[in-house]
Amino acid sequence: METNKIVHGNCIEKLKEINADQVDLIYFDPPFFTQKKHSLSNRTNSKTYEFEDKYESIDEYLLLIENALIQCKRVLKSTGSVFLHCDKTASHYIRTVLDKVLGSENFQSEIIWSYKRWSNSKKGLLNSHQIIFFYSKTVDFKFNTLYTNYSATTNLDQILQDRERNENGKSAYKKDEKGNILLGKEKKGVPLSDVWEIPFLNPKAKERTGYPTQKPVLLLNQILNIATDEGDLVLDPFCGSGTTCVSAKLLKRDFIGIDISKEAVELANSRLEEMIITESALLNKGADEYIEKTERELAILEEINAFPVQRNLGIDGFMKEHYNGMPVPVKIQSENETLEDAIEKLEKASIGKNYALKIVIQTKESKTNRLFDFHSDVEIIKSLELQTKELTKRTHKNKDTLQRLG
Ligand SMILES: C[S@@+](CC[C@H](N)C(=O)[O-])C[C@H]1O[C@@H](n2cnc3c(N)ncnc32)[C@H](O)[C@@H]1O
Repeated sequence: METNKIVHGNCIEKLKEINADQVDLIYFDPPFFTQKKHSLSNRTNSKTYEFEDKYESIDEYLLLIENALIQCKRVLKSTGSVFLHCDKTASHYIRTVLDKVLGSENFQSEIIWSYKRWSNSKKGLLNSHQIIFFYSKTVDFKFNTLYTNYSATTNLDQILQDRERNENGKSAYKKDEKGNILLGKEKKGVPLSDVWEIPFLNPKAKERTGYPTQKPVLLLNQILNIATDEGDLVLDPFCGSGTTCVSAKLLKRDFIGIDISKEAVELANSRLEEMIITESALLNKGADEYIEKTERELAILEEINAFPVQRNLGIDGFMKEHYNGMPVPVKIQSENETLEDAIEKLEKASIGKNYALKIVIQTKESKTNRLFDFHSDVEIIKSLELQTKELTKRTHKNKDTLQRLG
């Protein structure tokens, strides 16, 4: 079957047209067995989209899932995997079907997609998650580890120091023969867990097409980044508004989308032409970092390939790469600090750590040029914003001089 196309039809039939062992990832987002017709309108109310999620019985529904999964397994490469999206309505049944078709030994994770909701019309707990079952075809599956930033509650020692099992089998900080605590290896952050906080598309989001149960591109990006590389083939047999295909196009993967609804196919095709994606500040920055670090500080850290740390007066982050085998702390000069204050704070926070390199990001002009009354080997880098400010000032001055001379 041709790739980078949205195909109209029943996926049970259409999947049979795909050759075996072709596909790297399948995102499988069927109707959830809600036993109702889903209906929603676009932002301007000019178009209403609908799809039926009604079945004679749970057996009929599970037969659709099973038959589709059998074909999915056939078309998957041996390194491929399936991410099956469902909710509490039928997740307990679906898991058994997945075990049957793909094998319980190939179960990898139950991902909880968690999002904030503010109201609850029913008695009971507010429902604010859906489930994504991650199964591989074999044990030899492709997997890219993604990393997230440390949470605000992680202290510096937890980030920097190496750990080992002590005589009681408990995790403890690693020490040398003199009892000094040892600093650990380079760390990229915290490996992504199976609970994902990704905002639901809000009714005003530009990305929202009006297709019922449309998933956010950010959610699909995360799945694609975990299970595929550029040039890989991604398949979505229940593609609806085409979110998976939009994500695949964005991340330079090939794709095949299938949907039984003609309107969904038309919508998916038009989305692929427009490629409107809503950015999420929460996701881009990480929920915890959002609490303490300002967007500007996070941007500065990201620019120099450092990760942020919280709750430390003298250190704002660490370079992702070590220098001379040691972590490199970074302090950003804040609004109300002089350059000397910033250096001093970083020096204090570094006492006893023997860092081979310490960096202060200078964000404001400073009169003194390291003429302070303490010795420091801190390296100073001017922020891009400051460099630009100085450049404009210099340019203005040069122009003034030229004008005076001319
Ligand atoms: C939960 S929605 C998918 C939403 C999609 N992930 C998105 O972001 O827009 C399920 C889709 O499955 C489609 N569908 C239902 N039965 C199907 C079948 N047998 N073959 C192909 N598509 C089917 C429906 O038309 C609907 O668009």
